[in-house]
Parts: sequence; structure tokens; C-alpha cells
Amino acid sequence: MMYNLVRKALFQLDAERAHELTLQQLQRVIGTPFIHLIRQSLPFKPVTCMGLTFKNALGLAAGLDKNGECIDAFGAMGFGFIEIGTVTPRPQPGNDKPRLFRVLEAEGIINRMGFNNLGVDRLVENVKKSQFDGVTGINIGKNKDTPVEQGKDDYLACMDKIYPYAGYIAINISSPNTPGLRTLQYGEALDDLLLAVKNRQKDLATIHNKYVPLAVKIAPDLSEEELIQIADSLVRHNIDGVIATNTTLDRSLVSGLKYSNETGGLSGRPLQSRSTEVIRRLSQELQGRLPIIGVGGIDSLISAREKVAAGASLVQIYSGFIYQGPPLIKEIVTHL
Ligand SMILES: Cc1cc2nc3c(=O)[nH]c(=O)nc-3n(C[C@H](O)[C@H](O)[C@H](O)COP(=O)(O)O)c2cc1C
Repeated sequence: MMYNLVRKALFQLDAERAHELTLQQLQRVIGTPFIHLIRQSLPFKPVTCMGLTFKNALGLAAGLDKNGECIDAFGAMGFGFIEIGTVTPRPQPGNDKPRLFRVLEAEGIINRMGFNNLGVDRLVENVKKSQFDGVTGINIGKNKDTPVEQGKDDYLACMDKIYPYAGYIAINISSPNTPGLRTLQYGEALDDLLLAVKNRQKDLATIHNKYVPLAVKIAPDLSEEELIQIADSLVRHNIDGVIATNTTLDRSLVSGLKYSNETGGLSGRPLQSRSTEVIRRLSQELQGRLPIIGVGGIDSLISAREKVAAGASLVQIYSGFIYQGPPLIKEIVTHL
């Protein structure tokens, strides 16, 4: 009821303005008694995954809190884990506005934000301040002006800075909004990147006396053969987890709807079945050798359960949260 009113007001605004305003308001309640206005006391339902204990299986997906400014606010709402980022080594403005669109009739979102973020140093400051007692994942990427052949260096630079503060690290090679980024999902480029991040993880684990798992986030727009090759590569390199999926370039389920021709990645309900299929296929291929974090179009308890039935150990939401707000967290965490 309460979120319906909030949503009605926010949806009068341009999508990015509504996003900024919401994050500003959330930041203001952190550390004040007003945090109780958004707090939900949810049952403790621990899940062990990637060697970590999550207090429940539901996380906030990357991209909503790119700079880690509202971790405690999302924690208060009941998420078991919060993935912040994508962050890049240096701050960058992202693509020109407008770059965020609601595809209302389909409960979808199209974005071409382009990793707008304040840079890894600011994110680390924010994580240090946070009091969240769940798992904070940090999702990393490369700067737009770093040539893709040197992209690896950006991931390593981020790892060095975030390692002591991350619950897990998500390697984002699947955003459609950074030119060339998705090429890192294939063949030698993938092997090269995974070898590098795995070696760096080993060094950092010794230095900090702490093992931080690495999860790789993949696109939904992969052929069966590509998916099998990626699964094989993840296993060979001993990656700790896989996050499936990012947004899609496919528009077949929204064709004709307002904004459906905007460039960018589509998320929300129109992504739901494709993402579940990717999880199912991955799960067959991986046979439990590494866990899957399922994300894409979860908008109800039923669709969260479908992801788990397809092979996900944990799930995340972004678009469903925009459309339904904190009650969706409560529904999923309580009954999943
Ligand atoms: C506006 C917006 C920005 C996003 N930014 C990122 C990002 O920076 N990094 C990332 O890995 N995924 C990003 N995503 C993808 C989400 O994390 C998620 O994988 C995708 O939206 C599918 O989940 P959903 O259908 O629940 O939204 C973004 C999604 C949206 C809608």
C-alpha cells in the first residue's frame, strides 16, 4: 500500500531522476531513527554459498547502488546480500542522458547507463562506513577509455583496492553498454582474464589472510555453444561462482512498446524466462561444481522459486524491486 503511493509519485518523474531522488532519501535515513520507516524484520534463513554464509538467499543486484552509498538502507529492508557497483578504477560520467527508460506495460527497464560511477576509492570509503551485517558483494568493470585489450588491468586494479572490504567480488564482463566488454566472455580473452584474476586472488588472500570468492557475471545473449565454453572455462580456472544473467539486447518480447527501440540492456519481466533457461543449461553443464546466483526478471515468489528450481543457489532482484518495492523482498525472503 505504502510502496504503491511512493511508486506512483516516483513514476511521475523521469526514471533517472526518480532513481537519484530515492538514493538521496535513503542516504538521509541511514544512521537516524527514520531508518525504522524502511526496516523489515524478516526471518533468518541462512544459506551457505561460495564458502560464505548468507542470512537469506535474496540479494540486491548490481547497478542500483553503484557507489555503495545506501548499503545500510538496503540492508534494513531485509536483503541477505547487496551487490554494489559496477565500479571502475577511475570515476566516469557514463553515457549521455536520457539513458534509463521504463517499459511500463512489460514491467521492464532499458538502460544504457555505461558504468557511471564515482570510482573505486569512493566506493571503498562507503563500504568502510557501512554497518550492514550481511554480505556485501562488489561488482567491478573497466573504464570506458581503457582499451579492451588492457581491460584486465582495470579489473586487477579494482581487486587490489576492494579486496579487504568485499564479501565476494563480481567480475562483470556482460554489460552491453561498455563497447567491447562482452568480448571478454569468449575464448582466449576469457581464459586470459580468469587466469589473471585468479592469480591476483591468490596473492591478495595471502597478503590479507582472507579468501574472497570470485564470481563471474554473464550475459543472457549467448549461444548454447558459447555457454558451454564459458562453463568449462569457469571450472578450469576454479572460479567460485557465476552470476546469470545481466540484461539482454533482445527486444522480441517488448516489440512495439514505448521505448522498446532504445539502445541498451533490457531487464525485468521480459528477461525472466531467458535468464531461467540460461541458469538451467548452466546448471546441467556445471553439475554443482560451482554455484549459480540467479538474476533476471524475478518479480514474485514463484519466479524466484523457478530460478532455484533451475539451479540457482542464491537469487537477486533489480527491476522487480523498482516495480514492487520492499514488499517483494519480504515475500521472497519469508517464503522461498
Ligand atoms: C538501470 C540498471 C543498471 C544496471 N547496472 C548494472 C551494473 O552496473 N553492473 C551489472 O553487473 N549489472 C547491472 N545491471 C543489471 C542487473 O544487475 C541485473 O543483472 C539485470 O537487471 C537483470 O535483473 P532484473 O531483471 O531483476 O533487473 C543494471 C540493471 C539496470 C536496470
